[in-house]
Amino acid sequence: MQAQTLVQMKHVRKEFPGVTALSDMSFDIRAGEVHVLLGENGAGKSTLMKILSGVHKPTSGSIVIDGKEYKSLTPHDADRLGIRVIYQELSVIPTLSIRENLFVGRLPVKKRAFFHTVDYGKMQRRAEALLQRVGMHRDARTPVEDLSISEKQQVEIAKALAVDSRVIIMDEPTASLTHEEVRHLFAVIRALKAQGRGIVFISHKLPEILEIGDRVTVLKDGANVGTKQITDVTADDLVTMMVGRQIRKNYQNESAQNGFEQEEVLFEVKGLSRRDGKARAVSFRLHKGEILGFAGLVGAGRSELMNAVFGAAPKRSGKILLHGKEIRTKSPYQAIRNGLAMVTENRRETGFFHNFDIKQNISLLPFVKTARGGGTLGLIDRRFEKRCAEQQRKALRIKCASVNQPVTELSGGNQQKVILGRWLAAQSEILIFDEPTKGIDVGSKAEIYALMRELADSGKGVLVVSSELPELLAVCDTIAVYREGEIVRVFPHSAATEENIVLAATAGGTE
Ligand SMILES: Nc1ncnc2c1ncn2[C@@H]1O[C@H](COP(=O)(O)OP(=O)(O)OP(=O)(O)O)[C@@H](O)[C@H]1O
Ligand SMILES: [Mg+2]
Repeated sequence: MQAQTLVQMKHVRKEFPGVTALSDMSFDIRAGEVHVLLGENGAGKSTLMKILSGVHKPTSGSIVIDGKEYKSLTPHDADRLGIRVIYQELSVIPTLSIRENLFVGRLPVKKRAFFHTVDYGKMQRRAEALLQRVGMHRDARTPVEDLSISEKQQVEIAKALAVDSRVIIMDEPTASLTHEEVRHLFAVIRALKAQGRGIVFISHKLPEILEIGDRVTVLKDGANVGTKQITDVTADDLVTMMVGRQIRKNYQNESAQNGFEQEEVLFEVKGLSRRDGKARAVSFRLHKGEILGFAGLVGAGRSELMNAVFGAAPKRSGKILLHGKEIRTKSPYQAIRNGLAMVTENRRETGFFHNFDIKQNISLLPFVKTARGGGTLGLIDRRFEKRCAEQQRKALRIKCASVNQPVTELSGGNQQKVILGRWLAAQSEILIFDEPTKGIDVGSKAEIYALMRELADSGKGVLVVSSELPELLAVCDTIAVYREGEIVRVFPHSAATEENIVLAATAGGTE
């Protein structure tokens, strides 16, 4: 017996000024299934879901729910019809507490004498129960701004569970989650399935798609190139469907090298400690041509180390040397001026200037580097700005109507490419990449790895922090394993395997 169809989207088309985001997209969601949406950055996945949740009006096409055909939905309709979304760009309100976020617009009230007041007791109890369901161990009164990205996401999921839902859309829910958090999310998803809800799951991570999905629809250039049962496809099939060509595999076998000890030392960190103790006497060397990766469990403190190197967190002691000369990095500003660049994680919060267009976001750093008088931008050379941005747009294949477009109009993955482009445009000596390919599609990932290799070959220093081991193994020549604020092991590429890295990162690595 075929499960009931909860939602059907028919021949949906969506045009934005200068871009056709969806050309002719049909798609349906059944009760009790996880329907995966897969496609390259800018393929139209988020747009399709925003049409279903009433954020965008389709140019043409329709949506059928409960036998009723709609030309478009308003956010209110979508809400009434039980369509919940956990957006790629999180929508929790930072200044409110967790429990207030959970019940925005639906605060439980109680009657006191002649007027209604918010029933905080009830709210707290219900919030606690919801947090427990998503596996979050926090007091519901905590302000959301104090939470990590993954915790904010858990709040979003709890919010979707707080009300009755027919369809729950998760747009890249696992992008910032740790391994355990993903396990927990999958358990929540399975429970929702068992209750007969339909789940739309968007992700660029193929292994998890194959694990959690029941059906998969591949989008390419705004159209459906196929809907399949997950059990009928392999990861390779999916990649070929979404990219329309084979991508380069076994990247590491072609490029990684061993034995950099003889090479010139490009960059060196000596005995670096953070004032708050989150990095303790860390030393490492980066040689010419070498890509050095940092592996470790999430929370091991790799980003904290890099923040200190980059001057974004106070150091207690330690030296940083570029080409054998000590440089000062008391602030990110000073670090940038002295030749460092850092592509940070958490880009949705701190990554770019939302009110700037693409070209301004990209060409910002060369100005910071060359500006006099403390970095006031002063006179900006418009032609330079444009040239700079066009160069990065080409190199990274940023999908946009023009570089004058606001970054907020780009797809998630393309926003990430703008951030990368900015740091590449800065022409820094040393580039620190912290989770550089979060939200980037499979094909573009391979291209970014190739780009990192080019940078290293051209004499730049490349440091990479990533929670995806396959990524580190694919790009790095040397992998340092980090645990609790210290480097515990260093593996040359030839000795690095997932098993011995995980072992070193967890326990057995101190010998
Ligand atoms: N508000 C908007 N204004 C103009 N163009 C937009 C807007 N929203 C999306 N687009 C464009 O529509 C296309 C599809 O974007 P969408 O966000 O749906 O992609 P996606 O498949 O979710 O990609 P990603 O994997 O990078 O998140 C892109 O070219 C994007 O720039
Ligand atoms: Mg998207």
